[in-house]
This record gives sequence, structure tokens and C-alpha cells, in this order.
Amino acid sequence: MTTAVIGATGRIGSEIVRGLVAREEEVAALVRDAGKARRAFGEPGGLHIRPTRLDDPRDLAEAFDGIRSVFIAMGSVGIEGVLQRVAINAAAGIPSIEQVTRLSVLNASADSLGINQRAHYSIDRFASSTAVPYSTIRPAIFSASLLAAAREVRASRTWTGLAGSGRMALIDHRDVAEAGVRVLSDPALWDVHHDLTGPAPMSWPEALELLSAELGEPVTFRVAAERKFLEHLTSAGVPAGQAELLITREWAILAGENDYTTGTFQQITARPPRAIAEFLHDYRAEFA
Ligand SMILES: NC(=O)c1ccc[n+]([C@@H]2O[C@H](COP(=O)([O-])OP(=O)(O)OC[C@H]3O[C@@H](n4cnc5c(N)ncnc54)[C@H](OP(=O)(O)O)[C@@H]3O)[C@@H](O)[C@H]2O)c1
Repeated sequence: MTTAVIGATGRIGSEIVRGLVAREEEVAALVRDAGKARRAFGEPGGLHIRPTRLDDPRDLAEAFDGIRSVFIAMGSVGIEGVLQRVAINAAAGIPSIEQVTRLSVLNASADSLGINQRAHYSIDRFASSTAVPYSTIRPAIFSASLLAAAREVRASRTWTGLAGSGRMALIDHRDVAEAGVRVLSDPALWDVHHDLTGPAPMSWPEALELLSAELGEPVTFRVAAERKFLEHLTSAGVPAGQAELLITREWAILAGENDYTTGTFQQITARPPRAIAEFLHDYRAEFA
């Protein structure tokens, strides 16, 4: 029986597809752009790329025919949040589907300062209302979030943000996907929320110290007031809604919401999560 992946061409979804294909499992990538999917994956055995209209429940129901498990990896707000709910609702009506696993976020809750955390909680509540068999992986902030700093780091060896303090245990997106593949492949891990963190909490300035060591020259964090940070984001082309999401993420960091680790990644995969230094080494060229 096959796993369907929604958001299959995204950062996590694409790694989930590759991980399942590597395990020689059958995968249906439900995508809006089949050409993009073919460029990303080629045409490996076991992978079926299916153009799918996520806003059309009938097309989704056809795409889900014979599917055993579903992975959803998309944004939590705006149209992506809406489409996640449509997909969950469609999956709930398909008898062959034994599990929907969704990419959520650490601290998904009704009272987080972060809009993203509250939006994921809302989707969880919706899933619960449909009674679909359901699990999530809830990763900490991705190490890959540091890539947002790359352009500024290349230009001025600085990165501007709100949260000059407050720690988070950044997790490598490749680890997030590996944990996701494990959850999909092992029914013993179904029906629960998996809180995933990297190995150690650190602040943005502390992460930049690791980047400084990797580059061999200092990179410093520049604290900006909220108004300035907003201007900084929007002038870099970040859409207003996404900017608000990022600003509330900074407030959540400052409030200490993310300052902890869990052992869940190690329990699921039987190895420790990658260090941030490893991510920075692998992606060095982006910052150099
Ligand atoms: N960044 C972090 O630090 C972090 C940490 C923890 C959790 N998360 C969570 O991770 C999730 C994002 O995952 P990601 O980074 O893998 O996402 P991503 O790279 O932005 O991928 C999003 C996927 O959704 C698809 N998509 C978007 N809009 C669509 C539409 N209108 N119709 C059909 N498909 C659409 C995209 O398709 P195309 O490829 O065709 O555009 C893509 O495959 C969010 O929910 C976030 O809260 C992020």
C-alpha cells in the first residue's frame, strides 16, 4: 500500500519522498507542478507523480484511492492552511487510509505567542473533529532558518533580527524528514505527536558564533526594534503575512518558549540529531 505526500516538492516533503523511495516503499507525490517534481526526483521506481488539485475534494478522493498513509507538509496559514484542512477532511472519508501524519511545529498550542504555533494547533483541532487517524511531527525551528541570513551575511557579515537572546534547539531539516519517514513506516509511532528538537538550545547570536568559526571571520547579530525589523523583512521581499509570522516567532523565542530539548528524535531514529555546526558546514557556500 502506498503513502501519499502532499507538499511533496517542498523542503521537508521532498526529503520525505526521497526517504520513502530509498526504503523502496510505494509513494504517490500529489503535486501542482509535475515538471517541478520530475526535476526534483527524476523517475525512480516506486514513485508516482500525480498532478492533484488540492482544492478539489473529488480529485483528492481519487488521488487517495488505495492509499494507506498520508504525509502533509505545507504552511499553516492562509491558503496553505485551508488546503491542509481540505486534505485532512478528504482523507477522513477514505477507508484505506490508516494514518495521516502532518508536519506541525514545536509548541503547537492555543496560547503560544507564535502565530504559526496557534495555526498548527487549530489544524490539529480540525483533524481531531474529523476523527481521522492522526499523528504529527512537531519540530523546533529548522537550522535552515539561518539560510534567511545568507544574503545579509554575505554582504555585511551581520544578521538583523529581534531576538538577541532566548534559546532554541535548532533542528536539521534532514533530521526532521528522517523522523517523518520513520513515523510513516512504523505503526507503533502512529496516533501521537512527536516533539523533535536538535541537540542543544542556543540563541541566534550563539548560532552566529558557530557560523563565524565555520567562515573563519566574525559574523554578528544586530538587534533591531520591531518596526525596523518589519521594514527590514518587507524590503527584502518577505510578504506581510510571513513577516508577521516571523516577528511573532522572535517574540516566542524571547519569551523562552523554545528553550528546551527532547529525546524524541533519538528515540525514533536511534541516533542523536545533527549538530548545528554540521548544517553550517554543509551549507557554508551560501554564507561565504
Ligand atoms: N521553518 C522552520 O523553522 C519550521 C520549523 C518547524 C516547523 N515548520 C513548519 O514547516 C512547514 C513548512 O514546511 P516546508 O518548509 O517543507 O514548506 P515549503 O518548502 O514551503 O513547501 C510547501 C509545499 O506546499 C506546496 N504548496 C504551497 N502552496 C500550495 C498551493 N496553493 N497548492 C498546492 N501546493 C501548494 C508547495 O508546492 P510548490 O513546490 O509547487 O510551491 C510545496 O510543495 C510549516 O507548516 C511550518 O510551520 C517550519
